[in-house]
Amino acid sequence: MQKNSKLAIVIAGVVAIALVAFFVTRSGSDSTTDTSKASGNLEIFTWWASGGEAAGLEGMTTEFTTQNPDLTFVNASVAGAAGVNAKGVLVSRMEAGNPPDTFQAHAGAELSSYVKAGQLEDLTELYKAEGWDKVFPADLIKTITTDGKIYSVPVNIHRANVLWWNPAAAAKAGITKAPGSLDEMIADMEKFKKVGIDGIALAGQGDWAIAHLFDYVLLASMGAEKFNGLWNGGTPWDGPEVSKAIDYLTKILSYGNSSKSLDWPDAGKLVTSGKAGFFIMGDWASSQWQSEGLVLGTDYTWAPGPGTDGIYQWLSDSFTLPVGAPNRAAGLAWLKVCGSLAGQDAFNPKKGSIAVRTDSDPSKYDAYLQAAMKSWKVDTLVGSTVHGVNYGNAGMAALNSAVGKFYIGGAKDKAGFVAGLVAAYDADKA
Ligand code: GAL
Repeated sequence: MQKNSKLAIVIAGVVAIALVAFFVTRSGSDSTTDTSKASGNLEIFTWWASGGEAAGLEGMTTEFTTQNPDLTFVNASVAGAAGVNAKGVLVSRMEAGNPPDTFQAHAGAELSSYVKAGQLEDLTELYKAEGWDKVFPADLIKTITTDGKIYSVPVNIHRANVLWWNPAAAAKAGITKAPGSLDEMIADMEKFKKVGIDGIALAGQGDWAIAHLFDYVLLASMGAEKFNGLWNGGTPWDGPEVSKAIDYLTKILSYGNSSKSLDWPDAGKLVTSGKAGFFIMGDWASSQWQSEGLVLGTDYTWAPGPGTDGIYQWLSDSFTLPVGAPNRAAGLAWLKVCGSLAGQDAFNPKKGSIAVRTDSDPSKYDAYLQAAMKSWKVDTLVGSTVHGVNYGNAGMAALNSAVGKFYIGGAKDKAGFVAGLVAAYDADKA
């Protein structure tokens, strides 16, 4: 008898614990997506501090504050160098247990760096609640998913392999059409040089923009398949394909401006002011120039990076919910705007990128972006290395520094460069 009552007590205890656990989990999952009571500050961390980048962010902030009047937007951006500076600050903040409520990270391996470190919350419930699994491309969702869990909300797609130039400067040099290959591009740079214009604008600050140029040259010289092999061991970094790409890079760098420390908006100004011919830069250049009052098609124009027509080298800015975010509900409220149609169509036309959502309205976008929307659907897609798709934070930092060293050293030490590239691959896989 006594034995039975003890058993009954044990069973009652187990049932009680199970019930508590059930309700705690349920209320936990409700609060996962509930932002109705969000108030206080939203601290958002980006590297979008000025020009077209700040204009894009402002477009989405306006939407956010309209939808969330009880939340105060606190912009903790760290300017410049495509996030190289910002990521340094972010990593120390995360390590010190002081995360913002949300931060910017690229889809792909860069995002995985934070996931592996256990620093991000799983957003799968939010995707289901908002129906994003139906309006975001499945292939893109794969790049932000680890072990079946989705970890960020992508706001845009940028294209990295774009050639920009100034039609007036090109006319002066006798260039009437976009070059179609690396060799044609080099021939045109020679024409610019003959009329006293630098063949290409180079932004040496923070190394990343030279690495961005190299990422494009790798793609243009070896094609998409071999390029994809660089990130999984299929194409060796010390093999003939990379050697050929380095020779192209060396030649291209020899046509660049003499200052080696420009940030990308200043290098862009060399092009729009007619001092430099070409610029290989992501399509955020276009929004930057529009924020400076310049007109697409008149003051500057574009073509796919020579030799990469039909290939879309993509990257995607996405926002996260850090574990331990001080105002979690505010972070979630921001993510809801990031994934919404209104948020994406307010942000992207100003940021110079296309929306991730497949139901975005093309009439809100300029002629370049409408063309990009079409290409994104039909082109061969490859990732951008410098903007997070192919390498995580460690590999990217090592690649940038190898390219920077080569550039600053006068593009002479090819063997040292190859060794640095091999080391970057190893750092990524470590
Ligand atoms: C990239 C980012 C773009 C743009 C660019 C230049 O990494 O994805 O949105 O900001 O840097 O800063």
